[in-house]
Amino acid sequence: MKILVTGGAGFIASNVADAYIKAGHRVVIVDNLFMGNMKNVNKKAKFYKADIRDAMLAKIVAREKPDVVNHHAAQISVPDSVRDPVTDMDINIRGTVNVMEASRKAGVKKFIFISSGGTVYGSNVKLPATEDNPLTAESPYGIAKVTGEHYVRFYAARYGMKYTILRYSNVYGPRQIPHGEAGVVAIFIERIMSGKRPVIYGGGKCLRDYVYVGDVAAANVAALKKGNNEAFNIGTGVKTDVNMLYAAIQKATGYSEPAEQAPYRAGDLKANYLNCARAKRLLGWSPKVKLNEGIALTYEYYRDK
Ligand SMILES: NC(=O)c1ccc[n+]([C@@H]2O[C@H](COP(=O)([O-])OP(=O)(O)OC[C@H]3O[C@@H](n4cnc5c(N)ncnc54)[C@H](O)[C@@H]3O)[C@@H](O)[C@H]2O)c1
Repeated sequence: MKILVTGGAGFIASNVADAYIKAGHRVVIVDNLFMGNMKNVNKKAKFYKADIRDAMLAKIVAREKPDVVNHHAAQISVPDSVRDPVTDMDINIRGTVNVMEASRKAGVKKFIFISSGGTVYGSNVKLPATEDNPLTAESPYGIAKVTGEHYVRFYAARYGMKYTILRYSNVYGPRQIPHGEAGVVAIFIERIMSGKRPVIYGGGKCLRDYVYVGDVAAANVAALKKGNNEAFNIGTGVKTDVNMLYAAIQKATGYSEPAEQAPYRAGDLKANYLNCARAKRLLGWSPKVKLNEGIALTYEYYRDK
């Protein structure tokens, strides 16, 4: 199969591109290198430096004629989306629709859309969240993800372009850029390696669902052939608070200093974790890597870098 991966120079999609190539597929990557890095781009992939919002994108998709488009490129920061909703909307809604429209015109058979299990359900959802919950996103970033989901459904209904939506929990692993809440594992490891104590907010009680990027890549491989016209939570269902996460990182790194404590940050969700039974049933996917193992693999990556 030929797969065009947007955002493939970034953290998650570069791991997805590697998994596709390992499974014997041909991969084309489009990334404007806003956050991505050429070091992450698989040598066997064809690379285009382009912005998903540009007219050029349609020309690339028309020339490459991929069977599947896997859309990861995005502005990924929730606080940035609150500070600057217009830019968030421009990249995450207009850019997304531009990729879908180019895909539809080029006869792409399937569109894999990356959404966010941490934001699309809002804060009042019963945990662990299932996919059937109403999509009541509360940030511009979450609203853009919900909107992208509506658009893929439109393209499926109107043009028969199949889709799979993957709603990730908190993804961690090699190549993550240490910024934002989603990057807490990378942030802690980076601080420890540069001799600074990690900072824990609000007593470290916030609960999250941390999923290893290798498992997320495997879900993207499964979605090539399965899960048509469905949305799936992709996480572990295991709730981990920041103190537990810090203990796991201390174990992997051998770092014994206590973390610095800081007050609770307004806007941080108290808890979010996902029910992933549907992915197991329909994609045949479940996470394999336990937190301690995934953190050890992530630390090895940063240590060797
Ligand atoms: N990291 C997480 O825990 C998490 C959780 C839920 C969903 N997601 C989603 O997964 C996807 C990948 O996230 P990531 O954590 O790997 O982030 P990332 O920033 O490492 O990757 C995003 C990539 O998109 C590229 N990009 C951004 N704007 C672009 C544009 N206008 N044109 C072309 N390329 C552009 C960046 O250069 C980068 O390489 C995003 O859609 C994100 O919303 C991530």
